[in-house]
Amino acid sequence: MAENENTENTMIEMIKVSRIYEPNITALSDISLSVGTGEMFFLIGRSGAGKTTLLKLICNMEVPSKGLIEVAGYDINQLKGNDLAHLRQKIGVAYQDFKLLGDRTVAENIAIAMEVSYKKPRAIKQRVKDLLEQLQLVEKHNTITNELSRGEQQRIALARAVANSPRLILVDEPTGNLDASTTEQVMELLNRSRLAGATIVIATHDSSLYRQSKHRVLELRNGTIHSLTEGDQP
Ligand SMILES: Nc1ncnc2c1ncn2[C@@H]1O[C@H](COP(=O)(O)OP(=O)(O)OP(=O)(O)O)[C@@H](O)[C@H]1O
Ligand SMILES: [Mg+2]
Repeated sequence: MAENENTENTMIEMIKVSRIYEPNITALSDISLSVGTGEMFFLIGRSGAGKTTLLKLICNMEVPSKGLIEVAGYDINQLKGNDLAHLRQKIGVAYQDFKLLGDRTVAENIAIAMEVSYKKPRAIKQRVKDLLEQLQLVEKHNTITNELSRGEQQRIALARAVANSPRLILVDEPTGNLDASTTEQVMELLNRSRLAGATIVIATHDSSLYRQSKHRVLELRNGTIHSLTEGDQP
């Protein structure tokens, strides 16, 4: 799908977006925000603030109750069929609850997105190997993911999200189960993706991820934007 030229500097545009879970839970209320192409963007806020809901709206796993969401210049709630599938292939998501295929191996899980987009088997093998090296999980290549620790599963979910070099990467609480040095590896991996041109949105409670960074931080409180710290654009 060709990029919409007028919006090539904006990867995500949300205008007055609300998400109400019936009958009366307002998970997000009147959210307007814009994320630039190539930006790394942090979404913070207490448990229940709406972080996961926001990420799910961006990747079309949830639909807004009100408002407009554009990704790469496309109104994602109007896209259908092949066009929607095509856009979804350009979005890598590391879910808070991982959503790995528990009875498949680590390598199979990481390879999935690349197989869906018909990458060559040799390229897939190499990419899986590289990612496992970066995350120091090479020895887990053939392990069934159900047998991994939660921290290991979390890193495999991240490897799967970035594997196909998506244009947009959404990561939901990527370091919840990790120690400081493993957290650093994860951030290195994400930074590498950003340097390769990806736009990255990270939802997190872990202030060590954004405290020292120059990236923008958005805080959600009870589904509304509480503060937006402008940092230097990458
Ligand atoms: N499927 C759903 N049905 C009903 N309510 C939901 C649903 N999903 C989320 N909610 C509610 O929406 C609000 C926002 O939830 P969300 O999962 O987005 O929070 P979060 O910021 O990701 O929290 P955490 O930090 O615990 O992951 C919460 O009040 C939650 O209970
Ligand atoms: Mg969440």
